[in-house]
This record gives sequence, C-alpha cells and structure tokens, in this order.
Amino acid sequence: MLVTGAAKRIGAAIICAAHDQGYRVIIHCHQSHQDALHLAKKLNAKRDNSAAVIKADLVLVNCPQKLQQFTQTVIRTFGRLDVLIHNASRFYPTPIGDIKLQHWEELMLTNAKAPLLLSQALSHELARSKGCMISLLDIHGAHQPFLNYTVYNMAKAAHAMMVKSLALELAPNLRVNGIAPGANILPEDDSDQGLSDEQKQQIGRSIPMQRLGMPEDIADCALFLAKASYITGEIITIDGGRSLTIAGGLG
Ligand SMILES: NC(=O)c1ccc[n+]([C@@H]2O[C@H](COP(=O)([O-])OP(=O)(O)OC[C@H]3O[C@@H](n4cnc5c(N)ncnc54)[C@H](OP(=O)(O)O)[C@@H]3O)[C@@H](O)[C@H]2O)c1
Repeated sequence: MLVTGAAKRIGAAIICAAHDQGYRVIIHCHQSHQDALHLAKKLNAKRDNSAAVIKADLVLVNCPQKLQQFTQTVIRTFGRLDVLIHNASRFYPTPIGDIKLQHWEELMLTNAKAPLLLSQALSHELARSKGCMISLLDIHGAHQPFLNYTVYNMAKAAHAMMVKSLALELAPNLRVNGIAPGANILPEDDSDQGLSDEQKQQIGRSIPMQRLGMPEDIADCALFLAKASYITGEIITIDGGRSLTIAGGLG
C-alpha cells in the first residue's frame, strides 16, 4: 500500500492500521522526512522489510520523466502495488480578493492534479494486482462549501469527480473509492493552516456526535474499502453527522 503524505496525522494512522493487517507499506512524504523515517523504523522493528519511505514533492507530476521515476521507485520497492491512497493535501483559506495564482497551483496540485496524474501513472500496476485506489476528499468538496476556502473546496470537488470518473473507466480491473472526512484532526495551530478559536468552536458545536473524528475512524474505513471487492465509485462520509447540520459556511 502506498499512502501519500503519510508521515503524520491521518496518513500515518492509515499506514499503521494497514501494517497491523499485514500490508507492506510505503510512506510517502515531503517535508516530514524525519517523521516518516521514524515511523518506518518502528514498523520494520515489528516486521522486517515491511515499511519503506519515499520522499518527494508531488510537484513532480508536472514533469513526465520525474513522474515515471517516482512510479518506478514505488513499484520496485516491494515489487507490486495493491492499494494507492491519495492523502497528501494542502489546506488554507483563500478569501475572494486575495486569491493568488500560487494558491490555485498549490491547492489544485495536491488536492486534484497529483491524484489524477499519479492514478494514471500507477493504474496499470494496480490493475495487474486487481487493486484499488482510495481518495481522501472532504465533506466541503461536495455540496457544502467551507467559508473562505473556495480554491480548496473546488479542488476537492474535482478530486471527488475523479473518483467517480475513474471508477467507471477502470472497472472491472480496479476499484476507485473516496472518503470524505468532516473535522478529524484540526490543522496544527502553528502551521499556515491553523484555524481561529472561533472557527474551532463553531466546528465543535456543529458535530452531532459531539466530538472530532479520530484518524483511526478514517483508517478503519480505508481498510474496509481496500477489501470491499464489490464497491466502486463510492464516497463514504465520516463526519459524526456534521454534514447534516451545515447549510454552507461553518455551520
Ligand atoms: N484533518 C481533517 O480533519 C480532514 C478533514 C477533511 C478532509 N481531510 C483530508 O484528509 C487527508 C489527510 O488530512 P490531514 O489533515 O492528515 O492532512 P495534512 O496533515 O494537511 O497533509 C498531509 C500531508 O500532505 C503532504 N503534502 C502537502 N503538500 C505536499 C506536496 N507538495 N508534496 C508532497 N506531499 C505534500 C504533507 O507531507 P509532508 O509533511 O511530508 O510535507 C502533509 O504532511 C487530506 O487529503 C485532507 O484534505 C482531512
């Protein structure tokens, strides 16, 4: 299993859960190389040669040669690929009036373009193993936008349509599904993705299950989808009911 952006947070939870179930895992990372190496070391101590790290900026999808090198590295790591999980993402506000081309490029790259081009590059290998792809989407990438996050919302919406389009096109050789989390792990406060206290309180109030989700909730679903041989083109919402309460904006 390859999980993009998997050194920390939800990606790392998927890696750990998959490893527990016997998968050999490839932890893709970019900036968080040390975290990824630490995670791989921990997993390899449990089972020899069961976890590997590949460090790469996903901007490489803009260069066919680098993309080919990346996919070859992925396939050579364990000699096959059964599950590809598109988890890497950027997430920050882009209020109208302040949207720069760089925001568009960065948010669309991680949340839509790289998933598509990586899927294309690895689809042959995944079809060979009758495998699957799983995309990490967002409840705000469907009908209920997150206020001031237009570019992110648009990118996740494009990614969601990729899931359905590829599910149709790649069946019966491989399955393509998505997971749409609500609020699971909030962005780290000291990152450029941090939310204000007001945003956090509003999010907390809007969740019928009265708690944030946990990364493990997402990991469980990813492992379910990895095995669900008759499910394709499906997007499963995991949000403690939050999408029932938000009518747009923060809810
Ligand atoms: N957290 C939530 O509550 C929540 C809610 C809704 C949807 N989601 C979705 O669920 C997924 C996981 O969420 P998360 O909060 O755990 O993600 P995250 O921490 O925001 O991002 C995951 C990883 O993406 C990687 N990444 C970003 N830009 C990259 C680039 N140019 N090249 C390579 N890697 C890049 C980063 O890796 P490095 O650190 O190695 O650079 C980062 O650690 C995301 O797709 C997110 O949109 C999450």
